[in-house]
Amino acid sequence: WRLLLLLSIFLSVVGFLRTQFYLDYVGSAAAEMEYRVPSFVGDPKIAFLFLTRRDLPLDFLWDSFFENVETTHFSVYIHSEPGFSFNETTTRTKLFHDRQLSDSIKVSWGEASMIEAERLLFREALRDPANQRFILLSDSCIPLYNFSYIYSYLIMRSPKSFVDSFTVKKDSEYNPLMSPVISKKNWMKGSQWVALVRKHAEVVVDDEIVFPLFQKFCKRRPAVVASLGRKNDILQKQHNCIPDEHYVQTLLAV
Ligand SMILES: *[C@@H]1O[C@H](CO)[C@@H](O)[C@H](O)[C@H]1NC(C)=O
Ligand SMILES: *[C@@H]1O[C@H](CO)[C@@H](O)[C@H](O)[C@H]1NC(C)=O
Repeated sequence: WRLLLLLSIFLSVVGFLRTQFYLDYVGSAAAEMEYRVPSFVGDPKIAFLFLTRRDLPLDFLWDSFFENVETTHFSVYIHSEPGFSFNETTTRTKLFHDRQLSDSIKVSWGEASMIEAERLLFREALRDPANQRFILLSDSCIPLYNFSYIYSYLIMRSPKSFVDSFTVKKDSEYNPLMSPVISKKNWMKGSQWVALVRKHAEVVVDDEIVFPLFQKFCKRRPAVVASLGRKNDILQKQHNCIPDEHYVQTLLAV
């Protein structure tokens, strides 16, 4: 019976430790992923994520697109340059008022800041559990179909993300220094404008592996300035990898 007693003490200690470990794990995961929801009940929304330079010149088209649409079916988020705001003086579309992210960053074309801005949009939109599809849009995108068509297509009929993704033979935009995390095989290219399901939007926001490599190894080559001499050569050898046309595609491939 002593053996039995020892065994039961041992088992209860193991049980206790496991519970502690489990609680620790759940606790820290909850802190990091406050926007996570296991399942959502209710009307699903499409999140429209606008990545703009300043204002939205085609706001009048979006205004008629969203006319008479239930506000429980969509949400709008805008990343524009810091300090810019969408209000009565900058847009005629009420839906865009105050939809600019408060933590927007200065974006430089061809640099990783562009994909960081995308990630900020996805992160903000993930906070609303009703958002189930995430469409990334530029300030020159226009809808080709009406809202009800797009809603039923994306929400009702397709459980998938839409990402334009292909490989390019001899892609000089690939930087071999990114391997082995990003192998040549996983280096994909495609349109920056994607429509993601929640699971893939979470992959983009949580990524701590692929994004830092883009930050480190993707630099925009500056214009040639003859007076810089040899320094010019070094700057020109920097790697122009066009992050916005490779990031989501490559991340999902990895
Ligand atoms: C609206 O936003 C613009 C641009 O950020 C700003 O200059 C202007 O003061 C704002 N107008 C109002 C009424 O808040
Ligand atoms: C939306 O577009 C579809 C397909 O073009 C059409 O069948 C439908 O009647 C339109 N719905 C509305 C509310 O206009």
